[in-house]
Amino acid sequence: MCGIIGYSGRQNPIPILIDGLKKLEYRGYDSAGVAIFSGGDIKRLRVKGKISLLEEKIKQLQLDGSCGLGHTRWATHGVPSEENAHPHRSCGNQIVLVHNGIIENYHLLKERLLAEGHQFESETDSEVIAHLVEKYYAGCLEEAVSRAVQELEGAFAIAVISRDEPGKIVVAKLGPPAVVGFGDGENIVASDVNPLLSYTNKVAFLEDREIAILTPNEIRFTDFTGKPIEKRIEILTWSPLMIEKRGFKHFMLKEIFEQPQVIRETMEGRIKLDKAQVLLDETGLSLSSLKRIKRLVMVACGTSFHAGLLGKYYVETLARIPVEVVYASEYRYHEVIPDGETLAVFISQSGETADTLASLRQVKKLGLSSLAICNVAQSSIARESDGVFYTHAGPEIGVAATKTFSAQLTALFLLAVGLAQLQNNQEERLNLIQAFRKIPWQVEALLGQKEMIDALSARFLHTEHFLYLGRWVNYPIALEGALKLKEISYIHAEAYPGGEMKHGPIALIDEKMPTMAICPQDKVYEKMLSNIMEVKARQGVVIALATQGDESIKKKVDQVIYLPSTHPLLFPFLSLVPLQLFAYCLAARRGADVDQPRNLAKSVTVE
Ligand code: F6R
Repeated sequence: MCGIIGYSGRQNPIPILIDGLKKLEYRGYDSAGVAIFSGGDIKRLRVKGKISLLEEKIKQLQLDGSCGLGHTRWATHGVPSEENAHPHRSCGNQIVLVHNGIIENYHLLKERLLAEGHQFESETDSEVIAHLVEKYYAGCLEEAVSRAVQELEGAFAIAVISRDEPGKIVVAKLGPPAVVGFGDGENIVASDVNPLLSYTNKVAFLEDREIAILTPNEIRFTDFTGKPIEKRIEILTWSPLMIEKRGFKHFMLKEIFEQPQVIRETMEGRIKLDKAQVLLDETGLSLSSLKRIKRLVMVACGTSFHAGLLGKYYVETLARIPVEVVYASEYRYHEVIPDGETLAVFISQSGETADTLASLRQVKKLGLSSLAICNVAQSSIARESDGVFYTHAGPEIGVAATKTFSAQLTALFLLAVGLAQLQNNQEERLNLIQAFRKIPWQVEALLGQKEMIDALSARFLHTEHFLYLGRWVNYPIALEGALKLKEISYIHAEAYPGGEMKHGPIALIDEKMPTMAICPQDKVYEKMLSNIMEVKARQGVVIALATQGDESIKKKVDQVIYLPSTHPLLFPFLSLVPLQLFAYCLAARRGADVDQPRNLAKSVTVE
């Protein structure tokens, strides 16, 4: 959570910092601030609220300078307020910094620093770092940072400047991400690559316990003890265009519409059609080790967890390997029993989610082999796993995950088919792969229903509760549909497997609680119809997602959204789309901040 940025170079940093913060705003958006070298001092400006407010305030003051820092915050310690907004500074404005993460021993450090005469301005944990760096500052910023970070416990990515060393930014990382970009006479650091794309494609990702020292003409690296280190420069393949809205009202809508392409790109080059084979070599795990797997555990949070739930059906049905799916926040405290036959799969869009990363580190210690399904190259989870299956979804800016979910489902489906062929399970493989190759076109056709779904959503503007029902492979999609509605429209939504209704949730049904029922013609169709009838018998309003051509369902429900016919295992790729569109349209009609829903942040880098 929180986004940090720093720029040192020949240009006025303000527009660069503001532009960068806008691209990082999905990481947190309750307050923001910048600090720049100007007129022999460091000037700081902070606001409670969004980057647009900061931008307005800066315009009024006409701030100008050479090098600077920026921050967008997701509050952990201290309420969202101007005082608690970053950048934070030491006494007398000697040291100024931005921080992403949590300092767990800040109470102790603060007591000590207070006793030594330091004066604090905020309730944050971050401010202690500024005072600590100041304490050790004797004319060389990197030396002071290196001493200070050795006393910090917790997680941090910090960018620090000193009034006495204009043009220099010192960055240190332990936990949250930090990436530096090499420009021409200018260098830049940020929490992720998005703000860097307009300036350079040459970057280096900091590892834990590394420090980067940026000036306009060079970037040097050391470890926390100050020992120089060499870093490999990576060339980025993402382009600045990928993070523009391109005519869509919101990033979320653009990302929903990108799904056909994302599914194509995630399967691209991974399917050998003549042999109905999926190629898993690129994951970095050897085929012989994959062949030995007797059990899988999938570990993830939120939407990625829902992808894991569907992945379980895929792997168990196709490869006949048992799968356990666990929330990362729970798994990290599990008593994991090490064995040589389990593959732990970590599903994460960002590759930085704190709980997922902690779970990965735990299984690594126990010697389990690990595979990441991840969208961000060089993210912590991608780097630390034994193998990676990249989802090629491109950057996702909307806080609610959409296209990356489709990409994760694609990856999990391909993984399941790949494991099935290693287990010599030929069943239905060819049929399935052929059906799967049609999915991008079918998703495209479904996107054409947006106007109809928008009109439908208008009927529920004032609805307070929703129920989502699905069975078998569509149950994880019911969960995902409900999550989308909750997070962006703030309407309460519950999802259940249809058969579970009569064990409690049916008590909720009345004419004010509509039900979204996923009811394609698959092996649980009749069962799902019975569940729908149970809802109707209690005056519930039902919208059904049904297979094209299912005319009879029209008489049983209030509204039908038709889905093209596909292999039953692949329906989730289709049923998902109207649910995303419904949540989007309803939230947009309610005037909600679709791309940046309240209280949320895209990368949850704190526990
Ligand atoms: C919901 C959403 C979150 C994330 C979750 C995990 O729309 O985006 O629930 O899925 O925070 O994030 P990653 O996949 O980055 O580990």
